[in-house]
Amino acid sequence: MIRSKILSTGMYVPPKILKNADLSAFMDTSDEWIKQRTGIEQRHWVEVGTTTSDLALEASLAAISNAGIKKEELDMIILATLSPDHEFPGTACFLQKKLQVPLIPALDVRQQCTGFIYGLSIADQFIRTGTYKKILVVGAEVHSAGLEKSTSGREVTVLFGDGAGAVVLGATEVTELKSDSYLYSTHLHADGTYAEELWTPSGTGMKEKDRMTIKQIENGAIWPKMNGKAVFVHAVKRMPEVLIEALEKNELKIEDIDLFVFHQANLRIIDMIAKQFNIPEEKIFNTIQKYANTTAATIPIGLDEAVRAGKLKKGMLVASAAFGSGFTWASAIYRW
Ligand SMILES: CC(C)(COP(=O)(O)OP(=O)(O)OC[C@H]1O[C@@H](n2cnc3c(N)ncnc32)[C@H](O)[C@@H]1OP(=O)(O)O)[C@@H](O)C(=O)NCCC(=O)NCCS
Repeated sequence: MIRSKILSTGMYVPPKILKNADLSAFMDTSDEWIKQRTGIEQRHWVEVGTTTSDLALEASLAAISNAGIKKEELDMIILATLSPDHEFPGTACFLQKKLQVPLIPALDVRQQCTGFIYGLSIADQFIRTGTYKKILVVGAEVHSAGLEKSTSGREVTVLFGDGAGAVVLGATEVTELKSDSYLYSTHLHADGTYAEELWTPSGTGMKEKDRMTIKQIENGAIWPKMNGKAVFVHAVKRMPEVLIEALEKNELKIEDIDLFVFHQANLRIIDMIAKQFNIPEEKIFNTIQKYANTTAATIPIGLDEAVRAGKLKKGMLVASAAFGSGFTWASAIYRW
């Protein structure tokens, strides 16, 4: 039976690092507040002029090289981001141009922190049906250009970093369901009731004469807004829920999972999930301390780092779960 399998991973973060204390230069915050509330110690931010598709390109080239394939073998590009290069066309098209692989389909996924798992799920459907054999799935973000870098934006701004992660998903013939390497299942959800709990109020379709107005700039509608407590409360409910859904679907127990690579918005959310399921610390791979929340890039960056750190090895059973703006939430279980 044809299933999909992660053939390789790749990642890229821009070189410039901002420690928590560096943010105090333009807002009233502290290393202590950020570390205590979120676990974040630093983040990478691009220099002005570097775009999401630039970061995506570097991560994609690494994933393609690690897969030992030629970029011309790709059948499709899926790119998840909440920080597109432009309102349109999609950032996947800009990545395609930079990768120089014209004609194959290029699709943007706009599911924020859950975007990578949504992308993986879409790619999986194309591979399971035999439509495509190799799909590049990327999560990439340049948050820094879209954050309000002053005290009024501090609750959101301190949480986010720039970066990109990519995988090549390929078709594989599975004969041993319980031991072959493949993507077991993905589980996707959304509840738009909460769309305005974490969002950017301005944009296309506003009840304004023009898409962008001076008023929107002056009243801060161009910056992301977050109801942090609501996000927290929903995240600690939905991530466990969707993890259980994935385990039940595959008749697995939490102890069967060798490694958890979660979306990481806040270390406290991950700690609460670990406590709830009694997951030992060494089974959870976290990168938020170094990279902050890189939204759609968090999980593929985590996978690539885990591979390179020797923590993710062939044959291991891996679970991922994510929660984010939308609200959206999702999970995936795969054998490496
Ligand atoms: C944002 C978050 C870290 C805030 O933590 P919290 O424990 O709820 O914060 P508290 O309510 O204890 O503290 C809020 C206070 O800190 C202040 N504060 C907010 N951001 C701050 C910052 N960066 N530095 C210093 N102080 C800050 C607030 O102004 C508020 O001050 P006040 O009490 O005088 O009004 C937390 O709500 C969170 O992580 N939510 C989820 C966020 C998330 O996951 N987002 C991404 C989704 S994918």
